Amino acid sequence: MPVRVAVIPAAGLGTRFLPATKVVPKELLPVFDTPSLQHTVDEAIGAGIEHIILISNRAKPAIEMFAEKASGGARITVVYQDSPRGLGHAVECARELVGDAPFAVLLPDELMGDSSHLKDLINEYDATGKATIGLKRVPRNEVSAYGCITPQGVPDATGRVGIRDVVEKPNAVDAPSDLVIIGRYVFGRDLFGFLATLKPAAGGELQLSDAIGNMARTGKVNGVLISCTRHDTGTPMGMLTASIDAALKRRDVGPQLRGWLETRLKGQ
Ligand code: UTP
Repeated sequence: MPVRVAVIPAAGLGTRFLPATKVVPKELLPVFDTPSLQHTVDEAIGAGIEHIILISNRAKPAIEMFAEKASGGARITVVYQDSPRGLGHAVECARELVGDAPFAVLLPDELMGDSSHLKDLINEYDATGKATIGLKRVPRNEVSAYGCITPQGVPDATGRVGIRDVVEKPNAVDAPSDLVIIGRYVFGRDLFGFLATLKPAAGGELQLSDAIGNMARTGKVNGVLISCTRHDTGTPMGMLTASIDAALKRRDVGPQLRGWLETRLKGQ
């Protein structure tokens, strides 16, 4: 069955963007002039997604307003998570709507340069029938910010590697590798079985990475290394650099911004 459904969790509290997120959901903050959620929707549509399930929170009505107005060709359905009980719980909220279909999950606070990585994940899922997770190699001192995988050997020339286990936010010294999960996934229906048996992690949240770890220990998860550009827009600094990068690439404003930055950095 082709992957035509995507789940985009957007029900979190966005505490790292307070006070802005008292009023505006993190997912609607602009990367230069476009809401980050719009970039995620466009990425999904570019990879062939036809139905997007947006997980939201009733305290964030702007997400539903966005869904009503967002264009691009995909059907968007909003499902509510009663309270932000973790990413694993957020994805589980889509269970009924997803039905038996394979589905992608895209975190909207990760900005990809294009749809190529998601297409790679979908192709790998189609070829193997195994859950497929987007990965990135990071410096060892950065692994503690991510879910980190235990690989089965080393990635092949195309960046594909089996995943034996996942550990959430390990210390650099305990980390099983320098390969981390970056917020793009493709799953079959069997993920919901693993989500249903999850126990709350430290902090009380139901973690998607714990479900992936349990699934990986049964030998049913592969990873693919990202080959396009990526920005972590989950922090104010990441959002700022993503905005600058996006504006620098634009023909209408890029030269003007470059000139301003050069002058500013010379201290004038
Ligand atoms: P994050 O943990 O980065 O988002 O989750 P957050 O919790 O909103 O951010 P901070 O840490 O408080 O600043 C990644 C994505 O998963 C969604 C978030 O909305 C975000 O898009 N999410 C997270 C949910 O939908 N439900 C949850 O319970 C947790």
